[in-house]
Amino acid sequence: MNTEISDFLRKFNQEHILRHLDLMTDRERIGLLSDIEQIDFRHLAELYESYRLDLSKKNRKKIFQEIEVLSFCRGEVSEKYRKRLCCLGEDYLMQGKVAIFLVAGGQGTRLGFNGPKGCYAISPVKNKTLFQLFAENIRALKNRYGKCPKWYIMTSCENSGETRSFFEKSNFFGLERDSICFLIQKQIPALDLNGRLIISRDKKIFKNPDGHGGAIRALFDSGALQEMAREGIDEIFYFQVDNPLAKIADPLFIGAHVEHNAEMSSKVVNKENADERVGIIGRVDGKLGCIEYSELSQKEAQERRSDGSLRFRSANIAIHMLNRNFVEKLNRDKNFRLPYHRAIKEIECLDVNGHLPRKIQGIKFELFIFDALGFAERSVSLEVPRNEEFSPVKNRTGADSPETARRAMINIHTKWLKSSVKLSSIPENLVVEVSPLYALDEEMFKEKFIEPPQISSPFYLE
Ligand code: UD1
Repeated sequence: MNTEISDFLRKFNQEHILRHLDLMTDRERIGLLSDIEQIDFRHLAELYESYRLDLSKKNRKKIFQEIEVLSFCRGEVSEKYRKRLCCLGEDYLMQGKVAIFLVAGGQGTRLGFNGPKGCYAISPVKNKTLFQLFAENIRALKNRYGKCPKWYIMTSCENSGETRSFFEKSNFFGLERDSICFLIQKQIPALDLNGRLIISRDKKIFKNPDGHGGAIRALFDSGALQEMAREGIDEIFYFQVDNPLAKIADPLFIGAHVEHNAEMSSKVVNKENADERVGIIGRVDGKLGCIEYSELSQKEAQERRSDGSLRFRSANIAIHMLNRNFVEKLNRDKNFRLPYHRAIKEIECLDVNGHLPRKIQGIKFELFIFDALGFAERSVSLEVPRNEEFSPVKNRTGADSPETARRAMINIHTKWLKSSVKLSSIPENLVVEVSPLYALDEEMFKEKFIEPPQISSPFYLE
């Protein structure tokens, strides 16, 4: 083995790799060495050091503060103002100044679904996939505002091929091929609990996608930001693949963000109860960000305001507006770095004798998009009604599962029906689905709906 490489690996406490290299075929060795060349060993050593330091000292308790939100849910802000913000957002959509950005690089492990989560069939009548629902939503925006917003989809190395072929097979769900751009986020090596790189079953360095926070770099490195600038796109609507209720490019949210000249904004919903496992948009040591549910003490989680509501109640639904110049500025700032978060997970690896794979505990590193909030000079947090905008598909059963998401969709569309027909015309337990192509919201539904002679289950409108 080249002594330079041996010395280098030894210096970084990675000499076990030498043993692996010795046992490999020439081809495997070339593959592994090319993997190694791309690793920033110094950075990884720093990440491991911070893990070790945290183990040895008790974590310092962070200081959390709640934030004020803009809310139209409680009737405190005038309808006139809401309309003005909506008009502003609609103006942006008509002028083609908004891009849609979906983060879909994660694996649906908790859901137990083998494949990109966006390919999961979720709609209650037609069994449409999450990707199809989003695509129809975007087509409906084009029909409504005359311009089709460009759709950027971030995938990871793990699911990029499958995601693209799903779109191709589905003929891009009726969208123009060139209105959709795929970009791939970076990966980062995981480490074992002794800080050593892990060799995966395919004899490469084990890496995982760098988290949804990797979006900030991916938007820049892929050329997406430059393309947006050329096309006159100023604002980016960011959302997650797991929420079928996401109001894509909601004009109210765009308007609120633009009106406040904000660099990054968030949508929040009221936390259901003190024990709900959601992140809270708030201040962490004075900086705007997201307070993980695990970081709040029992006492803090249960604290109440004078009106009886939870003190930390602004649940993060992972929907943001990002100003394009802001994302560009972060990328050009040499000192900008989002912090890496750590998770201890089971990882399959080859042991040093090249024996069959076994599972070990390893440290995965990830970046989170909400940490970028701390770099924004101005930000708006818009509170929206949970039952209309948030029902994520995360777990196989129970809370945040396909069952609860389908129920939420049925409830919304039943409510729309109730606004247009006599209650007695709606059968009990009606399974109803309204395609976004038919109506994007209740107002649009009311304008369009003509009552049929009979409504029977399942009931579908497109
Ligand atoms: C996330 C938020 C939580 C919020 C909740 C709302 C974190 C740490 N927490 O939780 O504050 O209340 O959503 O639903 O994010 N993704 C990538 N690349 C990756 C990793 C993830 O694109 O490397 C995408 C996934 O495809 C998904 C989204 O990011 O669209 C969320 O990822 P996930 O890890 O499932 O977040 P949650 O833990 O559910």
